[in-house]
Amino acid sequence: MKVLLTGGAGYIGSHCAVALIAAEHQVVCFDNLSNSRPQAIERVESITGTRIPLVVGDVRDREAVHRALTDHAIEAVVHFAGLKAVGESAEKPMLYYDNNVRGTLALVEAMAECGVRRLVFSSSATVYGQPQYLPLDEAHPTSATNPYGRTKLMIEEMLGDIAAADPGWRIGVLRYFNPVGAHDSALIGEDPNGVPNNLMPFISRVAAGRLPELSVFGDDYDTADGTGVRDYVHIVDLAEGHVAALAALTTIDRPLSIWNLGTGQGYSVLDMIRSFERVNAVSIPYRIAPRRAGDVATCYASPAKARDELGWQASRGLDAMCASAWRFERMLATRNSG
Ligand code: NAD
Ligand code: UD1
Repeated sequence: MKVLLTGGAGYIGSHCAVALIAAEHQVVCFDNLSNSRPQAIERVESITGTRIPLVVGDVRDREAVHRALTDHAIEAVVHFAGLKAVGESAEKPMLYYDNNVRGTLALVEAMAECGVRRLVFSSSATVYGQPQYLPLDEAHPTSATNPYGRTKLMIEEMLGDIAAADPGWRIGVLRYFNPVGAHDSALIGEDPNGVPNNLMPFISRVAAGRLPELSVFGDDYDTADGTGVRDYVHIVDLAEGHVAALAALTTIDRPLSIWNLGTGQGYSVLDMIRSFERVNAVSIPYRIAPRRAGDVATCYASPAKARDELGWQASRGLDAMCASAWRFERMLATRNSG
């Protein structure tokens, strides 16, 4: 299939490009490069040995999306393009509603104009809000505690209305848990601008000596060791989940489907530190800090629906996540010194 990846130069998009090409899809990336660089696409090209057209454009620009869809005879879209920093979303809510919500609206308008009605959307487990039961299945009630989460929720609801109005759509909403790690080649991975908000890139930078120590946000949660528990999923497994979702859109007779992409297994912050130290033979200095506002104690998926309907299951464990994250961090050090 010819697939347009909005946000295709980003962390998840670049890994999905590799997985889609391995599954013999043709990939075109559409990205405004606000949080990525075109070199990411070149690296995907070198991993896959395939040329990937990059359209530099903004999803809010409906005409530019329309042109990309028609110029490349696109049959399906995987929509990663979005802003994702929770703290920034609270400071700049208008930017988040504009980029994420208006961006998605412009995208689906252009798709409707072009008769492309197959869409996979990057949502987040953040839409489950404070867990009322665990594991979180797709029927769990949704809510949002910050503007970023609210954009995901609003987009999910908008897509629901669109699918209800026109059952010709085939929309797959993927609720990611905590994607971490990097491709085996270490050519692509997660390299956030500034100080990382998320745990794994923070740990990698502490291990590399780029940051002095990790703050563990709270050790008084109601969990086995008192630190927050999350469902970390290897980025390559997550990428393969998109290939499975895209395939399901052609076989499942339902305009809108929601699938969790997680492992079903929770690990604490201390589990993550210890695994990273053991697997990579490094040391991660840390101190216990106050809780971070908005954090929940425990969050992990029921991956049963994705297993049953997509035939997808994460297969890479915590050691592989930690090893690949560290390989990528060391590759960045070589790249930056070279
Ligand atoms: P990322 O920032 O690495 O990638 C997003 C890409 O979208 C970037 O290349 C950026 O330049 C591009 N982009 C942003 N706004 C755009 C616009 N208006 N037009 C065109 N391109 C635009 O982030 P990521 O981690 O790869 O996340 C991809 C998607 O997955 C996002 O929608 C994010 O909210 C969602 N998500 C990510 C996580 C995570 O932990 N990384 C978890 C849940 C959901
Ligand atoms: C966060 C976002 C979520 C978003 C996801 C992916 C919040 C409240 N949630 O999820 O909306 O979809 O990232 O981008 O920001 N931790 C530390 N020290 C750190 C960083 C994190 O102890 O320096 C802890 C956190 O308290 C948490 C765990 O590590 O218990 C994971 O944190 P993180 O990687 O930020 O992911 P989430 O909070 O699950």
